[in-house]
Amino acid sequence: MQFLKSLLVLSSLSASIYASPFARRNTTEKRYAILDNDWSTAGFIPFLLAVDAGINVLGITSSTANTWQKQCAYHALATLEIGNLSCIPVYYGSTYPLINTYERFQAWEAVHGVLPWQGVFAPYNATAEALGSDPTADSSDPNRISAEAFLEGYPNTTAVTGKSAAQFMIEQVRKYPGQVSIYAAGALTNVALAVRLDEDFASLARELVIMGGYVDVNMNQATGTVNQADINSDINLMIDPEATKIALTADFPNIVVAGNVANQVISTQEFLDEIYEVKNPYSKLMYEYYGTIFPFWDETAMAILIDPSIATNTSTVYLDVDVAYASPSYGNIHVYQSALMPPNIRNVTYVNKIDTARFKAMIKHAVQYPKSCADL
Ligand SMILES: *[C@@H]1O[C@H](CO)[C@@H](O)[C@H](O)[C@H]1NC(C)=O
Ligand SMILES: *[C@@H]1O[C@H](CO)[C@@H](O)[C@H](O)[C@H]1NC(C)=O
Ligand SMILES: *[C@@H]1O[C@H](CO)[C@@H](O)[C@H](O)[C@H]1NC(C)=O
Ligand SMILES: *[C@@H]1O[C@H](CO)[C@@H](O)[C@H](O)[C@H]1NC(C)=O
Ligand SMILES: *[C@@H]1O[C@H](CO)[C@@H](O)[C@H](O)[C@H]1NC(C)=O
Ligand SMILES: *[C@@H]1O[C@H](CO)[C@@H](O)[C@H](O)[C@H]1NC(C)=O
Repeated sequence: MQFLKSLLVLSSLSASIYASPFARRNTTEKRYAILDNDWSTAGFIPFLLAVDAGINVLGITSSTANTWQKQCAYHALATLEIGNLSCIPVYYGSTYPLINTYERFQAWEAVHGVLPWQGVFAPYNATAEALGSDPTADSSDPNRISAEAFLEGYPNTTAVTGKSAAQFMIEQVRKYPGQVSIYAAGALTNVALAVRLDEDFASLARELVIMGGYVDVNMNQATGTVNQADINSDINLMIDPEATKIALTADFPNIVVAGNVANQVISTQEFLDEIYEVKNPYSKLMYEYYGTIFPFWDETAMAILIDPSIATNTSTVYLDVDVAYASPSYGNIHVYQSALMPPNIRNVTYVNKIDTARFKAMIKHAVQYPKSCADL
């Protein structure tokens, strides 16, 4: 993207002019990232954004959140394949959350009320699956692949076996200390496992950037439409509350949270039409399947990872995660100022606002002119 390129040139001339609001940034330095997500048919924009910005995507890892991780890994493989990006390896993540289960989640809902979107913990629905939805519940076989959901094409490539997502993350931060951004836009299970497997993992990464972490949205959940309640609930974090707590209290040099801000830009037909003015397999999939109901959640987190200066308003707050199963906020975050915080938590950069026009320009360029392995 043109403005990004000129920004890079300028920053290398004078790092201080474009000093980021929340990270020591050296834009001439090679940047690496591992992208962990619950990948889907139209969920490829984050990796297109990353490669478009010149970030070396070391690997893609799959997370159980909207559906089981294996189904997500297959979506990652398929959506890489359609754009000749299969040189980026895909690693399987943890199939199960640390302790949460379908039955446990359903019991929690019976007490505290249902979520409009339950992700992988929605009851099994054979009709929905036959119509192309990714599988849910049915924990008797979480490795079952539902082929009908591969609207992008069924993958002809395979994920790496013999090394878990968490092991891969650890290996790579040790190989490139201080340079690997960990991006997590699904549940935080894999990140938590890496944190617990290797006590130096978090501090050896460059940062952790997540999608999720809404604050002060309860009134929106009550007074708006069900869709409004949906986009203000925190399913990514709630699928695995204990992992969320482990990941968000670990000693990453920086943790960046794209929570409320991830709802700032909602997909519109006008924008989809504009993107599809340039025809390629990605613009077609986005045009056909992204829809106009949801915000650009995961894309927002990636844009902030790529260029922190896109954030126009941020707060430094101390963050904790509610891990009390009996709480209606189980799996949600709570923020504090330092004078009042409990022990064993840390500060995070909570992004409040981004530059919408720049963000949309980034998406547009990445999807219309996607990089392929030939460019990497
Ligand atoms: C930025 O990174 C490059 C490559 O790692 C290094 O050569 C350069 O000294 C760094 N600049 C600053 C200001 O840290
Ligand atoms: C895999 O190959 C088959 C047969 O050529 C093709 O129909 C399908 O679209 C391919 N999958 C992807 C994700 O490109
Ligand atoms: C992928 O590579 C094939 C063979 O080189 C080429 O025909 C096709 O246009 C490429 N697709 C994309 C989306 O770059
Ligand atoms: C199952 O999915 C179908 C198709 O999406 C839907 O019409 C139906 O209401 C779902 N059933 C339940 C019990 O949610
Ligand atoms: C930044 O965002 C916070 C939280 O939404 C808000 O309270 C504050 O007024 C904003 N600051 C500016 C300068 O807009
Ligand atoms: C966040 O905490 C770290 C480690 O305690 C500290 O070095 C840093 O200055 C804090 N950042 C802000 C903005 O308070």
